[in-house]
Amino acid sequence: MLTNEQKCEFKDNGFIVLPGFKSTAEISALKSRANDIAAAHDFSASQEVFSTDRQCGPQADKVQDYFLKSANEIRCFFEEKAFGTDGNLVQPLEQSINKIGHAMHDLDPVFSAFSRGNKLATLAADVGLKQTQIWQSMYIFKQPRIGGEVGWHQDTGFFYTTPQSVTTFWFAVDDATLENGCIWVEPGGHKSPLRQRFVRDGRKTKLIDLDTTPWPDTKTAIPVEVKAGTLVCFNGMLPHYSAPNTSDKARHAYTLHVTDAANDYAPENWMQRSKDFPVRGFV
Ligand code: FE2
Repeated sequence: MLTNEQKCEFKDNGFIVLPGFKSTAEISALKSRANDIAAAHDFSASQEVFSTDRQCGPQADKVQDYFLKSANEIRCFFEEKAFGTDGNLVQPLEQSINKIGHAMHDLDPVFSAFSRGNKLATLAADVGLKQTQIWQSMYIFKQPRIGGEVGWHQDTGFFYTTPQSVTTFWFAVDDATLENGCIWVEPGGHKSPLRQRFVRDGRKTKLIDLDTTPWPDTKTAIPVEVKAGTLVCFNGMLPHYSAPNTSDKARHAYTLHVTDAANDYAPENWMQRSKDFPVRGFV
């Protein structure tokens, strides 16, 4: 699927942009399923906000539990700015969900069909993954006006293997632009050190600092503005970021985080599967 030139590009830059990887029909089927899951979310039962640095406060245990269990389930997380000072939603429910995670690719037929197949398997082989393991799926809404920033990070810090193998498959479900919070990457930045790891510590999680190399800024990073249907595939070591969405347009995206089964998956990674729910690959 990738030409030799594209394979070199992936190796040198740490990412590759593949416009039109998914058809309009595939994209709209996924979007419609995601909207249905969000609309059916039981607001009274859970109002958890997605944040990797939300470690304290009276709700901390409940929040951590909800997050950790999402490794084996389909769960909705709210945008940080979804709630007004009165505790009520400032926008309708379906425009307040930050993301759905993290096992739709194994539990939901529409997500599973989107997340597998020969095209993805061939691409994975081309970027060096021999035996794929899809650990996580995330449907990110980046809602109009309240869609939160995702700070600079490297996905390896969340899915650590020895040696490093995690590769991110980022699908644009809407056109992603500077205005609605497209991702930014640092070309070649996958050659920089791993700065942080996000790990499980019993029933809690924590972010550990490993290296003080500064995160990129707009001088070295570039925005990746892409059309819906585009796949951005990147090395887990590539620093990336996305700005808040202050526009009136949503910026839906879908991601898969995939490792190579030949590389040891760290037992302290936050994402762990139940014994009766084994991780599977693209085929
Ligand atoms: Fe990421």
